[in-house]
Amino acid sequence: RIQSVVRGVGGYLPAHILTNDELSKRVDTSDEWIVQRTGIRQRHIAAEGEMTSDLALNAAKSALENAGLTAEDIDLIIIGTTTADRTFPSTAALVQQKLGISHGMAFDIQAVCSGFVFAVTTADTYLKTGQAKRALVIGAETFSRIIDWTDRTTCVLFGDGAGAIILEAQEVAADAPENGVLASSLRTDGTHWDKLYVDGGVSASKTVGFVRMEGREVFKHAVGMISDVIEDVLEKTGSTTEELDWFVPHQANKRIIDGAGKKLGIPAEKTIVTVDKHANTSAASVPLALWVASRDGRIKKGDLVMIEAMGGGFTWGASLIRW
Ligand code: ACO
Repeated sequence: RIQSVVRGVGGYLPAHILTNDELSKRVDTSDEWIVQRTGIRQRHIAAEGEMTSDLALNAAKSALENAGLTAEDIDLIIIGTTTADRTFPSTAALVQQKLGISHGMAFDIQAVCSGFVFAVTTADTYLKTGQAKRALVIGAETFSRIIDWTDRTTCVLFGDGAGAIILEAQEVAADAPENGVLASSLRTDGTHWDKLYVDGGVSASKTVGFVRMEGREVFKHAVGMISDVIEDVLEKTGSTTEELDWFVPHQANKRIIDGAGKKLGIPAEKTIVTVDKHANTSAASVPLALWVASRDGRIKKGDLVMIEAMGGGFTWGASLIRW
């Protein structure tokens, strides 16, 4: 059988940091309100002209270096993004070009904040069915470009960044211990689309538009949806929450992360939190958290890691990975 094992992880955050105090000079908000409601203290913002593909490229290079591989070794690039450089070609095609390769395939996945989990699940399927050997799976966003910076209900929540992992197809004996992506569960329910959306787009309005959100409605659904897919993945693999070494949730809001942990019985010590420093970077949040926790030595080879995300659509999903 073939398994999709993790070869490397990388990340990139734009240099400019925007603090809550700086934001409170632009809109009627305060550090206290933002920290109490969301746990966010600061966010990174891409520089003028710095595009999603630039962030993704830096994360890709960082993951390649971590894996001891070069771009030549990659034959599949999937980017979860909702803030593509251009309407087309895909950001993945642009990253492929910037990496200096032209073999294999590259495409984007649009599942908003769940984009990375959808991308991991897609790459896992391509590898396990023999359609590719080594996948660069990236979550990259410049959400700052679709934020209405006069709307305090949304502008305090988001940030820019990119994270990446490299998955490799490994042929093993049928009875070999299971490694890499063990199981995933993905869901979409489009009936909720207007609770979290962008009020622009090529076909709808020929404009880029801004993020619009009914925050309370999103909050209300988040914990239940996250728990459902995590329980599904645990059931598929015959695992329990006690066996998890690390819980790496989408970083939207500390209260959602705490709520999910409490419902599932996952202790705070096993939960990776970066929302304080990165804010919500949409599809980039999970790989950035993986990068941070691998770099500081928390996530180690052999650890059992649960990743999950929920976002616009609504979309939601989880994957269990033997690191
Ligand atoms: N600063 C100060 N006051 C604010 C701000 C702000 N930035 N934003 C809203 N308020 C005010 C509101 O105007 C409202 O005032 P009012 O009572 O006078 O009308 C009051 O604060 C309470 O507003 P609510 O929206 O009810 O506040 P709530 O406690 O629900 O917190 C929040 C808002 C943080 C957005 C919360 O609903 C939430 O976290 N929702 C989840 C949404 C989320 O994380 N989305 C991210 C994208 S989706 C994803 O990634 C899963």
